[in-house]
Amino acid sequence: MTQKRRLNRREFFSWITIAWVSFTTAMGGILSMLFRYFYPNVNFEPEMEFNIGRLKQYEEGVNESFKNSHGVWIVRKDGILFALSTICTHLGCIPNWTVSSSTFECPCHGSGYYDSGINFKGPAPRPLERYEIRQNSDGTLLVNKGKVYRQEKGQWGLAKSEIILS
Ligand code: FES
Repeated sequence: MTQKRRLNRREFFSWITIAWVSFTTAMGGILSMLFRYFYPNVNFEPEMEFNIGRLKQYEEGVNESFKNSHGVWIVRKDGILFALSTICTHLGCIPNWTVSSSTFECPCHGSGYYDSGINFKGPAPRPLERYEIRQNSDGTLLVNKGKVYRQEKGQWGLAKSEIILS
């Protein structure tokens, strides 16, 4: 014959505590799964199309204002303005702009590019890419990284691969 053993006060509160911790842990897990399920899958990468201001902001040469934020150099050279990708065409490192030599120098394997984006040394197999650039109706400039122009495909010089300055 079994005898029921009564819980003493201390055991009772221990069991209540264990039950409460288990319950809140389970509820926390369920709530976090629900939150993740309903949370939108937002892409936090920088936007593909962005405004870079007005033509008069850009003097002859390489402008690095959008290098870190958007991965783009804005280059004004020989009567045109274009948006150059900061991604080395060898293995994707980020070259540095060197004012003294007017070249982009890749720190990873030594590729070099002229300010035009044309490669001249190292293992880079092709020039840097250009992104679409165009002027808004309000006079501001837009760069669109969703549209790429490649020199080796004869795409430089196409409309929106550059802005011809008057
Ligand atoms: Fe630029 Fe290799 S990634 S040279």
